[in-house]
Amino acid sequence: SEAACLSIVVLGASGDLAKKKTFPALFKLYRQGFLQSHEVYIFGYARTKISDDDLRDRIRGYLTPNKNAAEGHTEDATKFLQLIKYVCGAYDTEEGFQCLDKEISEYEISKKSIEGSSRRLFYLALPPSVYPPVCKMIRTCCMNKSDLGGWTRIVVEKPFGKDLESAERLSNQIGELFEEPQIYRIDHYLGKELVQNLLVLRFANRFFLPSWNHDNISSVQIVFREDIGTEGRGGYFDEYGIIRDIIQNHLLQVLCLVAMEKPVSLKPEHIRDEKVKVLQSVAPIKDEEVVLGQYDGYLDDPTVPDGSNTPTFATIVLRIHNERWEGVPFVLKAGKALASRKAEIRIQFKEVPGDIFKSQKQGRNELVIRLQPSEAMYMKLTVKQPGLKMATIQSELDLSYGQRYQDVTIPEAYERLILDTIRGDQQHFVRRDELKVAWEIFTPLLHRIDKGEFKSVPYKPGSRGPDKADELLKEVGYVPTQGY
Ligand code: BG6
Repeated sequence: SEAACLSIVVLGASGDLAKKKTFPALFKLYRQGFLQSHEVYIFGYARTKISDDDLRDRIRGYLTPNKNAAEGHTEDATKFLQLIKYVCGAYDTEEGFQCLDKEISEYEISKKSIEGSSRRLFYLALPPSVYPPVCKMIRTCCMNKSDLGGWTRIVVEKPFGKDLESAERLSNQIGELFEEPQIYRIDHYLGKELVQNLLVLRFANRFFLPSWNHDNISSVQIVFREDIGTEGRGGYFDEYGIIRDIIQNHLLQVLCLVAMEKPVSLKPEHIRDEKVKVLQSVAPIKDEEVVLGQYDGYLDDPTVPDGSNTPTFATIVLRIHNERWEGVPFVLKAGKALASRKAEIRIQFKEVPGDIFKSQKQGRNELVIRLQPSEAMYMKLTVKQPGLKMATIQSELDLSYGQRYQDVTIPEAYERLILDTIRGDQQHFVRRDELKVAWEIFTPLLHRIDKGEFKSVPYKPGSRGPDKADELLKEVGYVPTQGY
């Protein structure tokens, strides 16, 4: 049966991503009964020579209880860790992968008595430079055993390349080894609750159907702010910068879901077809609609090369040339070392024509979707100020998830996405053609930044970023409301 015998292989098991995200997500799934001890086995693979117990000890501290399910946590963690076996080997030679295959096969054979099938999930918690050799080795040594049926899938993380050309090269290399339905490209923003809510909000509410267009909406902002700098990962970050780290993937994916047309159905291919179309409608980025920044002190990081121009902040306006969005700026903004940690979407509506109350001066309608922290959606609207006077004020219709859904623990992005990979649902994963168009949009600008032709302006850590970014926002027609 489909339920029996699943091998999950975490490659790069001793690294940071595996420890902080992959294993904790697997544990959460285990605790909720999605991974049962009689049908799943987890293999950690890496180059470091450590024992099973060493790996378990490294992971244990990262397995934290959900707020509503602390009971039994410690016992469950111990049981979960017993499901993990460690295999040590290189990423580019067959030896280690043959050893891995032997372990997986032995496990599968031991399960055959209860209707074994060979389902093998390979999670590459690795730097992309080793994706090609690792994929080759998996292909050569570790594919599912056809006599048992089942499947082999691989999960990869960004960065998928550094520009259009390198991304295409990587896609070709992996594409020669695996079919598209076997490849799961994670963008963890697609696993966030309020990102997954976007299609429901847009297409299941009559309110929004007629107003979601350039007749009514004046601007859309998609914003990511972090209050920490590049602590500890300056070396990695400097090679990529904020556009490759956040905007080209996370924020652009959110833009797709805000801007795309209604898909024919909820089938993953239908949804991803629409995302590709909207990306194809994005016009070339104009220089005067870009502001880049770098926080003071970034260059003091010893892992950052002297004089680096890498942006740690960027505001970029994208223009979507289609019937729905002509004339509406989509402002993507991301920055490190800012005043707060927040990710949100702000959809500002146009002024009410013939404003008899003169109320629009107090603020326009705005729909804010806060992805984190504290998931929420609220609509800023104008109401009569309660009391005897006929005056107006701006107020809010507020749906705060923490208050409204007190008994629900909102799943972590990784938890949800890993479950999707097991179930074979690619809806929340980036398709190859989508990735290509995403790179097409940003590559010309990125190349100019890399050549030093586009300078980052300094900003103070703990600030809102460069003033120029707020000026640009106003230039494209945004009227600041409270909290923006
Ligand atoms: C990662 C970036 O993809 O996303 C990091 O590489 C960033 O730089 C992180 O900190 C943010 O994720 P989240 O889920 O905390 O918003």
